[in-house]
Amino acid sequence: MATKLLSPAPRLSSASRPKTLQCLHRPRPIQSPLAPHQQRRCISAYGYEQAKALAFSSYGEPPAVLSLHSHSIAPPHGSLMTLRFLASPINPADINQIQGVYPSKPTFTTALGTAHPIAVAGNEGVAEIIALGDKARGEGFKKDDWVLMKAPGFGTWRTHASATGEQVVKLEEEMREGISVVQAGTVSINPCTAYRMLRDFTELKEGEWFIQNGANSGVGRAAIQLGRRWGYKSVNVIRGREDKAAEGKLKEELRSIGADVVVTDAELQSQGIKDMAKEWTNGGREPIRLALNCVNGKPATAMAKLLASDAHFVTYGAMSKQPLTIPASMLIFKNIHFHGFWVSRWAAQNPEEKKKTVADVLDLTRTGQFKDTPVDEIKWEWETKGEELIAKVKDTLEGYREGKGVFVFGKT
Ligand SMILES: NC(=O)c1ccc[n+]([C@@H]2O[C@H](COP(=O)([O-])OP(=O)(O)OC[C@H]3O[C@@H](n4cnc5c(N)ncnc54)[C@H](OP(=O)(O)O)[C@@H]3O)[C@@H](O)[C@H]2O)c1
Repeated sequence: MATKLLSPAPRLSSASRPKTLQCLHRPRPIQSPLAPHQQRRCISAYGYEQAKALAFSSYGEPPAVLSLHSHSIAPPHGSLMTLRFLASPINPADINQIQGVYPSKPTFTTALGTAHPIAVAGNEGVAEIIALGDKARGEGFKKDDWVLMKAPGFGTWRTHASATGEQVVKLEEEMREGISVVQAGTVSINPCTAYRMLRDFTELKEGEWFIQNGANSGVGRAAIQLGRRWGYKSVNVIRGREDKAAEGKLKEELRSIGADVVVTDAELQSQGIKDMAKEWTNGGREPIRLALNCVNGKPATAMAKLLASDAHFVTYGAMSKQPLTIPASMLIFKNIHFHGFWVSRWAAQNPEEKKKTVADVLDLTRTGQFKDTPVDEIKWEWETKGEELIAKVKDTLEGYREGKGVFVFGKT
């Protein structure tokens, strides 16, 4: 375990500490009839917020470099607002960012009161506005609004943050209705990625097929459901499980949300897969015209081999850490079009379309037509120890999980 380099937040001396800050030691709250995200802890008359953040000062493996850092946030003025986080997922990109291998780098800063610059981990999440300056109010924000992060690199694994209106997107009241904090906190990356990849590379007709790997991931499950809704059929590739009962259960689970065919990566690479594909696709009369790849390596090549001529193959992840290898014949004779997709770049170029996509997914969620990805809720209370949170982050580095880790904030 590497040494933790983060300095503690500067403490106010007892002489200089305003009396009202005492209440930040948060006495046990009495039973509240409010939902967790509506519960408030005591805030000083000076408006200082005490905050905790999972942060790192150098790149490396998350358990080695992450540390829980405490600091305080001054009362907001002007265009500033103070946010209290409600839910923040642990996505593969967050891990890659901490490892230093993600293209979007976080901001390392001493603004949180450390001697050395630190960056707060996490890119996605939903937060509520608990205080704001006049200019922020003039920009249409108000207390209790829910906001999502506009771009990656914000640092969402924290109880509170200071932000400007430029950094966030408000979830309008009607979009919020009937939506849980986990649903709001996980809507902006995975479902949007699946949505755009199914729509923006080729126009699939009803009854046509797409094929994807990582089918049980958040993106994969979103693609299955959106695809089914738009009339597309899907071949879904998962990694096989040693426990065959668990494998069968996972296949059934994906069929229950709309998958037409579910195969393991070993089945995909077995002899006879082409004949099986012909059977699924009505003797090849229903072409597989789109592939979505977040794995690479041999399973991705095998997937490409099932595509019809002129099809599109979109790579958006690299879970196996293997390169993508493509026979030249696929380019020359089958004219398969290979693309990459990064939702952050797409969102930066299409901010209005991003809002519409989020609104569409939330509508489908509200009306029960889009199910959340299974989640492993990690409760983050004010007292929760850093080691507990970091252990949960470490767990997500192992594959074959039953649910995505999501920090759900309680009384912070
Ligand atoms: N380009 C973009 O804009 C964009 C946006 C969102 C997500 N992504 C990418 O999409 C992928 C899925 O993200 P997510 O948040 O949806 O994932 P997730 O819900 O956290 O699930 C992780 C997925 O990765 C699989 N996996 C883990 N280790 C693997 C390995 N060594 N080889 C093959 N598969 C492995 C898991 O399969 P098992 O259950 O078998 O472990 C599971 O299907 C990631 O690569 C992520 O970076 C890209």
